[in-house]
Amino acid sequence: MQYKSAFDYKLEGKTVFLRADLNSSVVEGRVVLSSRLREHSKSVYALSEEGARVVVLSHQGRPGEDEFIELKRHADFIKKFTGKGVKFVKWDEDYAGAIKGMKDGEIILLDNTRFQKEEQEDKTAKAHSKDEFIAKLGPLGGLFVQDALSVCHRSHASVVGFQPYMPCVVGPVLGREMDALSKLAGPAKKGRLVVLGGSKLTDSVKILDGMLENGMCNEACIGGLFGELFLKAKGTDFGRKEKFFEEKGFGRMLPQAKKILEKHGSKIILPQDLALEIPNGAHSKRREIKAQELPSEFSTMDIGRETTEVFKKKIRASEVVVFNGPMGVYEKTRFSIGTKKILEAIAFHRCFSIIGGGDTERALTSFGLVPQDFSHVSLAGKALLEYLSGDPLPGLEILEKKQ
Ligand code: 3PG
Repeated sequence: MQYKSAFDYKLEGKTVFLRADLNSSVVEGRVVLSSRLREHSKSVYALSEEGARVVVLSHQGRPGEDEFIELKRHADFIKKFTGKGVKFVKWDEDYAGAIKGMKDGEIILLDNTRFQKEEQEDKTAKAHSKDEFIAKLGPLGGLFVQDALSVCHRSHASVVGFQPYMPCVVGPVLGREMDALSKLAGPAKKGRLVVLGGSKLTDSVKILDGMLENGMCNEACIGGLFGELFLKAKGTDFGRKEKFFEEKGFGRMLPQAKKILEKHGSKIILPQDLALEIPNGAHSKRREIKAQELPSEFSTMDIGRETTEVFKKKIRASEVVVFNGPMGVYEKTRFSIGTKKILEAIAFHRCFSIIGGGDTERALTSFGLVPQDFSHVSLAGKALLEYLSGDPLPGLEILEKKQ
């Protein structure tokens, strides 16, 4: 799908709402510099240079989390990257007045959109357009620029609510994501592989089902907690980790996982061995075990070496590889082996590769890999997979299409 771009419009003198995704890790109260901050800052710079009055909107964290903080520090990052002044405006200030008073090229960052209670309500674009803060902002804007694929799967106020007020178009970061994804259309001679892992499993089974159904991938290598869900669906008893699975809501997801195994079992490649964490004084040791040797009194933390080799072979045989989510607890060095070897295999194999997910970016950095090692590093995680599964994304549906 070809969408209109912000640069198809005359920007000089226009008030532009830029929906970025500045959502980044927060460690000990400090925002960690991320590609999202860097890349969206470039969009802010480009719009401002064209003379737009740039009003940046973003969320950070989720209510109740430590990462649910104000965006003051994010404003400092944008200042640093753009070399331009950025006014940070809180929701309890006269934000409409501040926007009305902007001059061409000026930049405002509004505070965390999730501080507005209506932001996360799952409502249509029309319903969100009546939310108090959207109804106040809407009449002030000339153009809404969606720059973040990573939020387009959410029907949230700042993602869809501006539609009735102004043309909604694509920003540079989202434009690059869409260009990369368009290369996935059409047949691949040697097949398409998706390598999935990670621990955020909500909707993951449905998404995998969609990807296998619509031919976006021919085969799926599954590791991380996601792989363990499927092993459990096949009847594996993990022992010690069972309680953790319960807390993660496996009970609810198992029937879906069983169904997709019945339908697509031959296309889903699961771990055949896993690495256990064995306590060893203040540290721990890695011991590998075959999946059929489970249950264990120790927790599984990574895919094993045999599985890694099987997954690598599949990668070498593929023309297109999509990677999302680590193969284990890669933050602990001895359990990072699976994720590291798989990412290296994708990086060094001459395939068209798209990798995504917040964890993935951190993993890359810790393994000394760089974005240039891949065809495209997406700033999106779940939204990327939802897009590939063929699900319509509310944030894309409101955008102006090219004739
Ligand atoms: C992300 O980090 O994936 C995006 O910022 C979306 O965040 P959310 O899952 O809290 O909506």
